[in-house]
Amino acid sequence: MSGDDNMPTHHGDNTNTTGNFDNETIQLLHERSSCRSFVDRPIPDEVMRTILEAGTHAPTGGNLQPFSIIRIDDPATKKRLVELCGDQTFIAKAPTNLLFCIDWFRLRRWAEVELAPFAATSSFHHFWISFQDTVIAAQNICTAADAMGLGSVYVGTVTECFPQLREMFELPNGVLPVVLLSLGYPTKRPSPKRKLDIDIITHNEKYRRLSDNEITEAYDKKYPSRGVEVTDERLRDLERVCLKVHGEEFAHRCLERIREKGRISISQRYFGLHYVADEMAEGSDAYLQLMRDFGFDWFDKYEPHGNQ
Ligand SMILES: Cc1cc2nc3c(=O)[nH]c(=O)nc-3n(C[C@H](O)[C@H](O)[C@H](O)COP(=O)(O)O)c2cc1C
Repeated sequence: MSGDDNMPTHHGDNTNTTGNFDNETIQLLHERSSCRSFVDRPIPDEVMRTILEAGTHAPTGGNLQPFSIIRIDDPATKKRLVELCGDQTFIAKAPTNLLFCIDWFRLRRWAEVELAPFAATSSFHHFWISFQDTVIAAQNICTAADAMGLGSVYVGTVTECFPQLREMFELPNGVLPVVLLSLGYPTKRPSPKRKLDIDIITHNEKYRRLSDNEITEAYDKKYPSRGVEVTDERLRDLERVCLKVHGEEFAHRCLERIREKGRISISQRYFGLHYVADEMAEGSDAYLQLMRDFGFDWFDKYEPHGNQ
């Protein structure tokens, strides 16, 4: 991801949510926003328990609950997480961080104890559902935390440090980190962010392809700040990525468009400068090896292992 320190935030534009809401839950969902600034106050154990119990009532495929949550309060561990997760300092300021992991280890143990056949870590279907189960539980916990007056923000950059997390938290085979959630009492309630209109996101009965104009209008409305300033460095970086991913003609057109508009657009910024297209794609290979290292092999032809 981009190392351009002067780049404005990619977290989007604020919006005003005023109006009447049908009930408190709907209001909470409208007014929520990621919180990256916490007061120095621990979360009482009973509050944490309420949040975890409410959150783990989430729906889960077959009611299997194939996930675990590592609770992290220790200052030294949080400091190490800051270093490992792209220097996101709020991780250390948050009194508690929760690491959500897919967990087939516990289910394997259950199957062993009960003498049930088990090959879940070799199944794409199980993997896919367990990823969803983990994220759904995380989001219920996130909403429960909001309802208890806390703020939180996900940290997706755990993908940069899977092996270190494995060692730090002594994760056995079959336990794969998915996302971290930093939690605490907010210094102030952050403003909600603008989102796409529901008409853009929902399709009636069949998928409707948007016209160029509809796309531009929808995203201009979501991001009224309309892009970032042009600098020589950003142009150079964008040109390099465009050349590599789509070739010379595309790179030329991209730079022409920027000259015409006098700004680097939000989309050019997202895919050319922040989630850098070629680097993101090239990084994928390494994850397959990581999957293997964590005990998953659903992408290989299944070979029964016999007695282990
Ligand atoms: C899977 C996931 C990973 C995220 N990772 C990060 C992160 O590493 N750092 C960060 O500051 N925010 C992170 N976020 C928060 C998003 O930036 C935030 O949700 C988005 O900008 C929209 O803002 P809102 O949550 O206030 O509506 C993440 C969110 C999700 C769902």
